[in-house]
Amino acid sequence: MIAIETIDLTKRFENLIAVDKVNLKVDQGEIFGLLGPNGAGKSTFISMLCTILKPSSGTAKVEGYDIMREAGDVRRSIGIVFQDPSIDDKLTGMENMELHADLYDVPRDVMHSRINEVLQLVELEDRASHNVNTYSGGMRRRLEIARSLIHYPRVLFLDEPTVGLDPQSREHIWNYIRALKKRENITIILTTHYMEEADKLCDRIAIIDKSKIIALDTPQKLRCELGGETILIESNNNDLLSEKITEAKLVDNIMITEKELNLTVKNAHTALARIVELAVSIGVYIDNISIREPDLNDVFMYYTGREIREGGGSKELTGMAARMRGRIK
Ligand SMILES: Nc1ncnc2c1ncn2[C@@H]1O[C@H](COP(=O)(O)OP(=O)(O)OP(=O)(O)O)[C@@H](O)[C@H]1O
Ligand SMILES: [Mg+2]
Repeated sequence: MIAIETIDLTKRFENLIAVDKVNLKVDQGEIFGLLGPNGAGKSTFISMLCTILKPSSGTAKVEGYDIMREAGDVRRSIGIVFQDPSIDDKLTGMENMELHADLYDVPRDVMHSRINEVLQLVELEDRASHNVNTYSGGMRRRLEIARSLIHYPRVLFLDEPTVGLDPQSREHIWNYIRALKKRENITIILTTHYMEEADKLCDRIAIIDKSKIIALDTPQKLRCELGGETILIESNNNDLLSEKITEAKLVDNIMITEKELNLTVKNAHTALARIVELAVSIGVYIDNISIREPDLNDVFMYYTGREIREGGGSKELTGMAARMRGRIK
């Protein structure tokens, strides 16, 4: 069964196209990640599916309901955790939950059993009577997740669920998301710019850049697409080394980041010997070399020519890298 289907879904803000003709299908029970840098269009895309924003053109269905014609049914089928915190920190955890349950017409006689159930899922039942202003960032986020589940949504939208949280809180939230999928088979759409989050949590990922989906697959397949291994080299002249490696056609793909060369090769060990030899012959000193499996950051760079940064910003690669982008055979 398909939980979400978008057809040429588009949003324009005056001259700016925030979401550009996106076609996407998400299966029921999938954890689907939208990965992209700041301003890529992730929140705008989600807002249209949640019926908060009207598309400029195109359309979408959520749980079989049309986002324009059946917005009420869509809203009843979904839960949302917004990018910006939206809980009332003058109220207790429990009061926040009750308010939300009322908003979603959860019947009074089952309200408290449901609230306790979802609070248990995020391990906040002991803190429910405390004011939210005494909660940590991670606890607030967990309360928001619990709140979004109060009406048993079939699709849950999480817009940057773990941004700004420490690794341990992040890990906790990942566990709740996994538990939720296992227990309820609910469909989860989450946006993130954390590569690790997308990699560990998502069944499939769409990489979004500049309002378009530029790659879509399982994390594993996206990594495999790059093939082989990634070599990182720091040297005293990355530009020159990069130019000579390209000329000699030693690697499949080459990018220059702020401080290092990022090379994609089929076999790192064979390539490495030739690269070191080449560096010596042109008088470039190599300070550091490491070899690893490609990760999603490499995938992102491969498709966009830019780095996606933890915490959000993305950095344009140098002109040289931009020119050299693309597979060099
Ligand atoms: N209400 C609005 N009016 C005008 N422009 C908007 C509006 N909302 C978003 N935009 C623009 O649309 C583009 C996409 O924004 P969006 O918030 O969807 O990006 P995002 O991928 O969620 O970014 P982030 O990772 O920073 O949350 C941006 O250029 C943004 O400035
Ligand atoms: Mg956003």
